[in-house]
Amino acid sequence: MTTQSHDVLIIGSGAAGLTAALALAETKKVLVLAKGSLTGGSTAWAQGGIAAVLDAGDTFENHIRDTMIAGAGLNRRETVEFVIENAPASIERLIELGVPFNRESGDLHLTREGGHSHRRIVHVNDATGWAVQEALLNAAQANPNITLLPGRSCVDLITGRHGEKFSGEGRVWGAYALNEETGEVETHTAKATIMAAGGAGRVYLFSTAPRGATGDGIAMAWRAGCRVSNMEMMQFHPTCLYNLEVKNFLITEAVRGEGGHLLHPETGHRYMVDYDKERMELAPRDIVARANDDQIKRYGLDYVHLDISHQPPEFVKEHFPTIHEKLMGLGIDMTKQPIPVVPAQHYTCGGILIGLDARTDLPGLWAAGECTESGLHGANRLASNSLLECFVFGEAAAKDILENWDDLSDPPAIKDWDESRVTDSDEEVVIKQNWTEIRRFMWNYVGIVRTTKRLERAAHRIKLLREEVDDYYGHFRVTTDLIELRNLLQSAELIVKSALARHESRGLHYTLDYPETDSEARDTVLVP
Ligand code: FAD
Ligand code: SIN
Repeated sequence: MTTQSHDVLIIGSGAAGLTAALALAETKKVLVLAKGSLTGGSTAWAQGGIAAVLDAGDTFENHIRDTMIAGAGLNRRETVEFVIENAPASIERLIELGVPFNRESGDLHLTREGGHSHRRIVHVNDATGWAVQEALLNAAQANPNITLLPGRSCVDLITGRHGEKFSGEGRVWGAYALNEETGEVETHTAKATIMAAGGAGRVYLFSTAPRGATGDGIAMAWRAGCRVSNMEMMQFHPTCLYNLEVKNFLITEAVRGEGGHLLHPETGHRYMVDYDKERMELAPRDIVARANDDQIKRYGLDYVHLDISHQPPEFVKEHFPTIHEKLMGLGIDMTKQPIPVVPAQHYTCGGILIGLDARTDLPGLWAAGECTESGLHGANRLASNSLLECFVFGEAAAKDILENWDDLSDPPAIKDWDESRVTDSDEEVVIKQNWTEIRRFMWNYVGIVRTTKRLERAAHRIKLLREEVDDYYGHFRVTTDLIELRNLLQSAELIVKSALARHESRGLHYTLDYPETDSEARDTVLVP
């Protein structure tokens, strides 16, 4: 297999990857690789919208303050300012690409979500992500400088140690990628590589994230030598549909933003009054998710109720057509009855540590989107700030690469992927078994409410599985399932290590052993 060389390699075709690709493609040849289909990431599933200050009565300072309150002070203020001040320009670019945001009398319609002091979420009904994904993809497909290759699972980043001649550990020169159709591992080199491979939500048994959210980008960057930070900050969404057939369907926070109430399913008590009297259902997500979890555990419930049936039926159908249709198919009419909901993992706040220029620790590697920890979200992401982060940091990565292009050298000769010592697996069941085991103990031991004992149990399981997975990886040809299992395990290890290192409760990390919040906010930074 010969090496294929590109100007820039981007791993991931979601909001972050495609934003970067479009910004680079005026002058550079860009290759975008995606695992499975080009629309398989979280971007296509986003419902609520994108936060931006667009109303005359709102200010950047309001949005900054809301972001930092939700983030429990762990945010880096310069990142928060950078992203929020760039938000209106990002929305403008999306409008130019043809994203049909909802409007009211000509102006953009702004909805509201938890933790936001103002209406500031632009949206396309309740399926914003799909509209964004489609617009970005159409533009990328029409651009002759962008090549999109779906069906490629990247296995690892290529660094100096993969050179025909050793050329230093640190510098990244591209990635090895499994061609899911042929089973061959291809060598893709580039002067610059951008990691935009999304989050690690599927490390949990219940998650709103799509199947491919297995932390591949974070794990690959970690193995190559990047620091990762705040991996204990895993966000759980309060309202995932409870249904025995459909396991990961989100009910957008905008339902609460437009007046939905959370109710005890037997007594009808609007219980948020007992947890956050002021903000009720629109308290930040960590507070509402913990309240739902508490109700379910305290009263032995299977779910709680989310009710918007007091609003006029036409209003509900107009604002939430996708959810309404989906629920009608399951026999639930949200205009007349409450929706059964449970909390589920939703977003990975931690990740590869990056600066405002989207640079990672390694020369040649930039990163953007959910696989990163940029300092925007801190200990808890404010709703609808993550697509925004993808646009701003996708642009930032492209800008930095273009500004420094002349200093980037050509990749050296790289060794092909070595398969001489592996065979086809004769025991695929090992992968399935371990995958399920990880997701189950992460849910039970590393969930919404933690204890040191439970975290230690999880760490012990990870240690045992590590031996088994490494042994399997060393003996058998790679498949997407094996790549994902290895990365899930790596992500689980990083989450548990980070959670054990934080001796306080802050934002999404809530532990019964350290219930207080320290006076000083500190990042948990893991060094490979
Ligand atoms: P993704 O869109 O997840 O894309 C990742 C890409 O990487 C994919 O193309 C994938 O194929 C590729 N990839 C992964 N691993 C590999 C590999 N090994 N090799 C090659 N390619 C790989 N945020 C908001 O701001 N507003 C919302 O309303 C909102 N709603 C949401 C609703 C749901 C149900 C979910 C799950 C999330 C929601 N979010 C929302 C979060 C937001 O959608 C994500 O954070 C964001 O889309 C992430 O974009 P990304 O480009 O970083 O990654
Ligand atoms: C939602 O629509 O509730 C999700 C919004 C987000 O995750 O930002």
